[in-house]
Amino acid sequence: MANREIKLKLENITKYYEVKKKNVLVVDDISFEVYKNEFLVILGPGLCGKTVLLNIIAGIEELSSGSVFLDGEKIHGTHKSISMVFQKIGLLPWKTVMGNTEIGPKFSGVSVKIRRKTAQKFIEMVGLKGFEDAYPHQLSGGMKQRVGIARAYTNNPDILILDEPFGQLDAQTRYSMQEEIIRIWEMEKKTIIFVTNNIEEALYLGERIILFGKCPAKVKEIYDIQMERPRNIMDTEFLKLRKKISNNMDIDLGV
Ligand SMILES: Nc1ncnc2c1ncn2[C@@H]1O[C@H](COP(=O)(O)OP(=O)(O)OP(=O)(O)O)[C@@H](O)[C@H]1O
Ligand SMILES: [Mg+2]
Repeated sequence: MANREIKLKLENITKYYEVKKKNVLVVDDISFEVYKNEFLVILGPGLCGKTVLLNIIAGIEELSSGSVFLDGEKIHGTHKSISMVFQKIGLLPWKTVMGNTEIGPKFSGVSVKIRRKTAQKFIEMVGLKGFEDAYPHQLSGGMKQRVGIARAYTNNPDILILDEPFGQLDAQTRYSMQEEIIRIWEMEKKTIIFVTNNIEEALYLGERIILFGKCPAKVKEIYDIQMERPRNIMDTEFLKLRKKISNNMDIDLGV
């Protein structure tokens, strides 16, 4: 991957929180690059600092030290090229699928006609054609996630950040959403940073996997995953890599 164009670069990102007058380190000197159009997976145990790091990249959390570069330029705060699908999906209950999906361009003052056309394209892309007027309470968990993904794409970002988007779904829906997100990525070719604590999911999706240790988040290892798609979780190569990463992964003891 040496010749690939760098889209995003994290340089020595560190984050402390002050808890009871003491500094608690949550992100420990993280540096890595994200290539243009790649599907990058960040894999780490629960509470290791994944969401905090993503929030820093998305500009909704201050960093304590370090820098974020987008296309070679240092950025601060939110940026229109970066859009996030949150761990807690956060659809507005009083808005329909269309209303939730078009919210980004609506706030930016894009005309109704143009923003509806864009939103419609992505509603259809995530397989929700016919549900434009449905409200969140009428949707299943998987459908809500689809709206979250359509909403993020409607913002027309260069980089999509997905924070454990399928963590709350049942196993079967999760598998089909994993297939869907690969299909969408192959179609749209945007840079995706996908966070999970699930090794199988990471191996099914990622072109590269960045493995974090337990809190404070730190890069433990970066894996290039060259398996062909569609990947098969029963393939020898898949199982071999799964074992290799599993042996290197810290266990989340929930303490
Ligand atoms: N505002 C805050 N103040 C103090 N500590 C915080 C704050 N936000 C997060 N933390 C701490 O940072 C650590 C990492 O949290 P984070 O939510 O990033 O974990 P995570 O890896 O995303 O976990 P999960 O897989 O459960 O989503 C946790 O110990 C959490 O308590
Ligand atoms: Mg999290």
